[in-house]
This record gives sequence, structure tokens and C-alpha cells, in this order.
Amino acid sequence: MNVTDAVNIEDLRVLARRRLPRILFDWIDGGAGDETALRQSMDGFAATRFVPRYLASISSCDLKTSLFGRTYALPFGLAPVGYVGLFWSGGELALAEAARQNNVPFVLSNSATATIEEAAKVAPDHTWFQLYPARDPGVTRDLIARAAAASLDALVLTVDLPVQAKRERDIRNKFTLPVRYSARNILDGALHPAWSLQWLQNGGLPKMGSWAAYAGPNASAEKVAEYMRSQQHTPQSWADLEAYRAQWKGKLIVKGLQHPDDARKALAVGCDGIIISNHGGRQFDRGPTPLESLPGMREAVGDKMAVMIDGGVRRGADMVAALAHGADYVFSGRAIVYGVAAAGLPGALRGFDILKDELRRTLGQIGLTRVADVNGEILWR
Ligand SMILES: Cc1cc2nc3c(=O)[nH]c(=O)nc-3n(C[C@H](O)[C@H](O)[C@H](O)COP(=O)(O)O)c2cc1C
Repeated sequence: MNVTDAVNIEDLRVLARRRLPRILFDWIDGGAGDETALRQSMDGFAATRFVPRYLASISSCDLKTSLFGRTYALPFGLAPVGYVGLFWSGGELALAEAARQNNVPFVLSNSATATIEEAAKVAPDHTWFQLYPARDPGVTRDLIARAAAASLDALVLTVDLPVQAKRERDIRNKFTLPVRYSARNILDGALHPAWSLQWLQNGGLPKMGSWAAYAGPNASAEKVAEYMRSQQHTPQSWADLEAYRAQWKGKLIVKGLQHPDDARKALAVGCDGIIISNHGGRQFDRGPTPLESLPGMREAVGDKMAVMIDGGVRRGADMVAALAHGADYVFSGRAIVYGVAAAGLPGALRGFDILKDELRRTLGQIGLTRVADVNGEILWR
């Protein structure tokens, strides 16, 4: 099977698993603790049922969705995913290009191997930047200034990493950055020659994009990764969010909130939107799924800010479920990243095509010609 034969996102996942060393595949695929949150996020979508409606003269299907006063071609964009350049050389730029071609937002992770400036060059009108504040506040301010200088539309502050997650697959695999070469890792690489060849051809570990500027002159990729790691998991407060609001003039979005009071506070600080997220089940194994927290969050802020969601989306129908429960927009992490890890840009584009096709089929079965018409009435209660 290659990516053009992939029928669903699970097929792209299988292709990614075949190509990647296990240590990397597990890092993408895994979740925290018992992976309960990871499973339940997907199961929550799968359990949502819609009321079929027929004889509705379905002749077309319009997937256009408005967000922040602008029209995107699809109701979903790409959530920030770190280290994609480790799975496929230039992986983040493939994601940026796929987002540009599909006219949807692409959130460049703070932990990307591509720099802010490189992503902005590929997708100037579609790139947003996700921030993990650094321990050194000067670095944080500079990252925000660079996103502004690159004219990015939105800054996404991720807040759901107050502590390092207990991801047991990674602990067992001894996954670290910089990657440590052990006999086991070398064997893992040898068993996945397509990935290893690309890794070697590109000189091994890529630099962690935007962070290279702060790790000292001519710092190696390993030093940059060490520096980035030393700066992460910085304590964050509402006062910090206020400071970012004062510095950043574009759209400001908080990602990872799940309590209605936190949504209200974000609104009071002047944020433009929230992404309700459990980090794809990668941080906290005992929290609610994003779909469970969505109605309460929507009720808390009404239409005063954009309410977006991510976590567990693997099907077009999952997105329809999120929209029907009150989300304005959906983000996808692993689904498209599996495609990139399997085959770069063609894999990402295949992921988009699969999800678009499923969106159209789902809407057709419930008698809708426009995704903009999805609302709570389509839900089977
Ligand atoms: C491999 C991986 C790396 C991630 N890195 C980041 C990151 O750097 N910043 C961030 O805000 N979220 C990160 N996330 C979380 C995603 O933005 C998103 O919340 C999550 O993937 C959504 O769940 P899904 O993968 O089931 O779609 C990462 C997720 C994965 C799978």
C-alpha cells in the first residue's frame, strides 16, 4: 500500500508505522498514562449519531467555513505538532504547503524544525504560530516579535503543559531530544531503512527551527535541542497572558483550556478565541474529552469569541460532530501528520482528501449542502 491507496486515516497511520522507527512512531501515536484520554477522545466522536435526512435534493456540497472574519475552504485546520521534521525532512513545510493548497490555517509548533520565517514564506496567509513561553522572557518576547514581523494572523498560546507528561511509551523507549544513539535505536533505524536513508542524507538531527537563534553562535542541532528543552515547561499565569495580549496585535488564541471559568477569563483578558483541547490525550489522562467540555465552554462565552476544538479527530464525521456540539472550527493533529510521516506532502494531501470526502458524504446523509448549516438539530438525541 502507498498513500494513494490509503482509504482512511487509519491506513495513513499504518503507513507511518511502517516507515518510522518505533521510537518516533510511538512518540506521535502515544498518549499519557493508560492512554484513556486518547482513546476516549476518539470514542466520544464515534459515539455521536446524526439524524439521517433524505429527498433533500443534494446536488452540491460547500465546505467553506468562516473564522475571524475570513473564509477558509474547510472547517478544519492543522493543529501545532512538534518535531515533524524528524518524521519527514522538511515535514512542517509540507504541512504548511498542504494547508495553503487547501486554504486552511496551519499552526506552526513552537517545537518545529522549520523556523517562523520559513513557514511564513511557504504559507504567508495561512500560518499561525504556537507559543510555549521560554524560561528567558526575552526569548518569548522575541518569538512573538518574529511572528509579528512575519505578518502571521494569529498567536496560539498552549497552556496545558504545567508539568511534563508521563507518556509511558516514550519512557520505555528512552525517547529524548537530542536523540541518543543506542544499540536499540540503531537497530530500530536499520529496520526502517527508508526513514534512515533520509535522516542520513539530511545530516541527522535537524535544528529546532526558530530556537537556533537563541542557542549561541553556530550551535549544533544537538545544542539547540538541549537549549530548547531547558527553556520549556515554564510556569505560566494569567498575568503572562495579559502581557502577551499587550504585545501581540493579531488574533490571540489560548489552547488547552477545558473549564468554563477559564474560558471566561480568557475572554476578559481580550483573547479572540480558545482551542478546547486535551492535547490529543498526551498530557492528562484523567481529564474530560474536548467534546465533553465543549458545550459548557460555548455557553460560558457565547458568541463573544471563537470556540475551536481539537483532539481525537480521525473522520470527517468527527468534525461534523464537533460543529454540531457548538464548535466554530476544528483542528487536526495526528491525522494529517501520519500522512506526512508516511510520504511527505503527498501523504498530507491524501489525508486532506480523505477527510474532505468523508465530510461531504456525512453532510449528504443528513441532507445538508453547506457545512455552515450544521447545528445541534442534526444530532440524534
Ligand atoms: C506528536 C505530537 C506533537 C505535538 N506537539 C505539540 C506542540 O508542539 N504544541 C502544541 O500546542 N500541541 C502539540 N500537540 C498537540 C496538538 O496540537 C493537538 O492538540 C492534538 O494533536 C490533537 O489531537 P489529535 O492528534 O488526536 O488530532 C502535539 C501532538 C502530537 C500528536
